[in-house]
Amino acid sequence: MNYNKKTVKDLDVKGKKVLCRCDFNVPQDKATGAITDDKRIVAALPTLKYLLEQGAAVIACSHLGKPKGERKESLTLAPVAKRLSELLGCEVIFATDTIGEDAQAKAAALQPGQIMLLENLRFDIREEKNGADFAKALADMADVYVSDAFGTVHRAHASTAGVAAYLPAVSGFLIEKELEIMGGALANPKRPLVAILGGAKVSSKIGVINNLLDIADTIIIGGGMAYTFIKAMGGTVGTSLLEEDRLDYCKEMMAKAQEKGVKFLLPVDTLCAAEFSADATPELVDTMAIPDDRMGMDIGPKTIALFSDAVKDAGTVIWNGPMGVFEFPAFAEGTRALAKALAETDAITIVGGGDSAAAVAQLGFADKMTHISTGGGASLEFLEGKELPGVACLLDK
Ligand code: 3PG
Repeated sequence: MNYNKKTVKDLDVKGKKVLCRCDFNVPQDKATGAITDDKRIVAALPTLKYLLEQGAAVIACSHLGKPKGERKESLTLAPVAKRLSELLGCEVIFATDTIGEDAQAKAAALQPGQIMLLENLRFDIREEKNGADFAKALADMADVYVSDAFGTVHRAHASTAGVAAYLPAVSGFLIEKELEIMGGALANPKRPLVAILGGAKVSSKIGVINNLLDIADTIIIGGGMAYTFIKAMGGTVGTSLLEEDRLDYCKEMMAKAQEKGVKFLLPVDTLCAAEFSADATPELVDTMAIPDDRMGMDIGPKTIALFSDAVKDAGTVIWNGPMGVFEFPAFAEGTRALAKALAETDAITIVGGGDSAAAVAQLGFADKMTHISTGGGASLEFLEGKELPGVACLLDK
């Protein structure tokens, strides 16, 4: 896949109306609707500010949550418009619809240096279905399309891909940075390249493990998914997370690692517990012999030392997925210690979005990483080496 895409800097946007797809899919407090993490809004600022400074009139747009084609007041983008306005220090005009009368009128009246935000694109079912009429109506409001929604580039939706058929389409600075750092790490990594994969399920990382086995020098597996590998090696995993239907896949991957000379590290000791609870008492056991009535909840100290050592002399480290149930303090040490090891290495450190980004932020290491991706599903599909529709649709350099 070609990551060398034109950016906002390759176009003259002065006096133009620019449709800018952002990923403002931010977490909100269920009761109050308050935005609980504005990282994704902050990440869009460099592109939005640049466009405004260049004298463009900016029509920003995004989805929020999964309203499935229905207007849901709890998923309005109005709170995002307010937060964006505070962060930009200027008014953000809010359209109460997406391609309807209000949006059309406000877009037509928008002046250079002004910014508006459309209502949640997924209030219209044609967004996710990549409806040509919906994409064209979005495009008709603008002269240029800028995509800066890295978190959504794995979706072939009207606003992430369809619209590029009607307008010159380039990337913003966020997508440019994500492609440069993550693309660079995959295409031409500073070696040794160490990939750390964690999280609950092998099945969600199948493509990633397979692709990284062709690229990485070392693969480290932790988190809930490690237990399926342990079982595949003949260990006992008690009541730990287990995907029986992935045992053969795990065997295949370990054989592939051996064949390719890729170091494949699994936990050697495990903190387990009798129940999945924050109050459960941690017990340290050998990973290959987890008792029948115990479940693995975190990696143990020997594993922390083993994994940290592999990270120490790395050239590049890519990390996706926590090592244990880091939400429970008694089982957060594995994830914390690995985050610390990443913070202390001289390697280029890249953290995939979603849970790993949340863990690194929660544990206080966010500013010590080279790059934390704003993509969850998008960064996973990137690591799988898949074609991303939201990138493929942009003009090549
Ligand atoms: C994300 O949060 O990963 C992106 O905003 C994409 O959201 P989606 O999974 O609802 O398409």
